Amino acid sequence: MEKLGHVLSTRQFTRTWLDRLFVLARKISEERRKPGGIMSGRIMATLFYEPSTRTRFSFEAAMISLGGQVLSSENAKEFSSAIKGETIEDTARVVGGMCDVLIIRHPETGATVRASSVSPVPVINAGDGDGEHPTQSLIDLYTILQERGTLEGLTVTMFGDLRYGRTVHSLARLLRLYWARMCFVSPQRLAFPRNLLAELHGSRADVVETTKLSDVLTDTDVLYVTRVQKERFSDLEEYAQVRGSYQIDATTLAQAKSDLVVMHPLPRVDEIAPTVDALPNAAYFRQAHNGVPIRMALLHRLFVRDPDTHSS
Ligand code: NCD
Repeated sequence: MEKLGHVLSTRQFTRTWLDRLFVLARKISEERRKPGGIMSGRIMATLFYEPSTRTRFSFEAAMISLGGQVLSSENAKEFSSAIKGETIEDTARVVGGMCDVLIIRHPETGATVRASSVSPVPVINAGDGDGEHPTQSLIDLYTILQERGTLEGLTVTMFGDLRYGRTVHSLARLLRLYWARMCFVSPQRLAFPRNLLAELHGSRADVVETTKLSDVLTDTDVLYVTRVQKERFSDLEEYAQVRGSYQIDATTLAQAKSDLVVMHPLPRVDEIAPTVDALPNAAYFRQAHNGVPIRMALLHRLFVRDPDTHSS
């Protein structure tokens, strides 16, 4: 895959494409230089129908760093014509005609695919319901690579709300490309979706499922923690039953490998105790900061024919 159009799912990515993206992202962050105003004269529109801090800010910071401009609608659900009943398709048609790239976050799974089917410009999925969050997994893989120096031969444990957490859905699909061993640890009610699990088994991924972190912790190289996705529960009683049901702290990590990498897409609620923050294992704030170089590199790959030969 040389050039991307829309970015909707991690299913689109190949290893070659990912490897080149990570080389470019590293170059951007190590050289600490603006890779030239490749987005100069271009406009990014960010349409967020759900709250966001990191994703929206890092997309916007990436665009501005590349010389582009941003049209931003935070809380598009209330402050756009969606409140009047406009469909995502109509909004994408209209806003797409005023910009060069559309970044969309939406509570409905598949909404960004629908928007992309009519948008005149590339659509990037910044999270669609409990579906996917493909650019977050680019950040996640890149972070593992930065922290561990490799993506091969690792045991990655995903811990928390694996049912509704779109970041783990996307990450698991990508890790399969690297033959990582994956452990899914969650309360029963928040188990990894069966259809996705079947997809992983279908590609002979090495997957283990359990409800107890202690079953897999000592073998784990990367521990990827997620919060309970409160907004996905239609029944708040059900949410109350799982809220606060898991947490890691410095004592938990004492049982783990000393070079364990702890990640979290953030925001965290109570699933990682603040005592972990000071440990060298805590990679989640570095992970959040990797959002900017990765999204800069992604914009390069979308808009520049040969991004590896860019000059500043
Ligand atoms: C995640 C999301 O929105 O899915 N956050 C993010 O983009 N970094 C995870 C979450 O909200 O729990």
